[in-house]
Amino acid sequence: MGVRITVVSPETFGLAACRELLLLAGRFEAPLLGLATGNTPKPLYEALAERVRLGEVSLARFQPPFAIDEYVVSDADHPCANRAFFAHYWSAIPATCPAQQFDPTAVDLPTEATNVGSAVEEAGGLDVVILGIGVNGHLAFNEPGTERAQRAMLTTLTAQTRASASACFGAATPTHGLTLGLAEILAARRVLLLANGAGKAEIVVRALQGPVGSDCPASFLQEHPDCSVVLDAAAAARLSP
Ligand code: PGA
Repeated sequence: MGVRITVVSPETFGLAACRELLLLAGRFEAPLLGLATGNTPKPLYEALAERVRLGEVSLARFQPPFAIDEYVVSDADHPCANRAFFAHYWSAIPATCPAQQFDPTAVDLPTEATNVGSAVEEAGGLDVVILGIGVNGHLAFNEPGTERAQRAMLTTLTAQTRASASACFGAATPTHGLTLGLAEILAARRVLLLANGAGKAEIVVRALQGPVGSDCPASFLQEHPDCSVVLDAAAAARLSP
């Protein structure tokens, strides 16, 4: 129970994360996943796709998963937005149910966020949520300052989050995001937090060994009853033993 940390080499990060995901999901009859996007989980999805292709695992029991966030973009098929990400990294996994996603072109974005949050709750809540961590400690688009009771919402992205996103979006980096709230994320029965690379070392320490508070939303994971963390050696470098 509590937070368990596994540190692996960069080469085995995807496979280790995949193994952990299957372990976490294994106890549920029809697992409902929350899916992160970003650079971090790509090796996990690739490893999962490979294992399914080889017939080593099947996701047939899994329910259609939920994307945990989305950029507000006027073109839902923008190559840097999540629809394109899931088309590449999730739908490419043989025999998976399509991911349920926020519609960033909805006329009423706050209502769109609320509706997705309600859909998660009506489905019984997430069994396993896959999370990355922002360099500022955000979880999905729950930026620093977000309270733990926050439900799914339309949110303003911080300068740091926009700076990371600009690597793909360039000058047209979105200013807003749609996200499950900390409420729906922390209510997941099991959490898989992933981080790799030296750029995450500082925030990993802050989140896992610093004080718990909304200035670092990922720190709330310290109080989650069942949180598994997979790090590569660089991301784990500053953790105290
Ligand atoms: P990254 O993003 O995986 O692209 O580093 C993580 C996050 O912002 O949650």
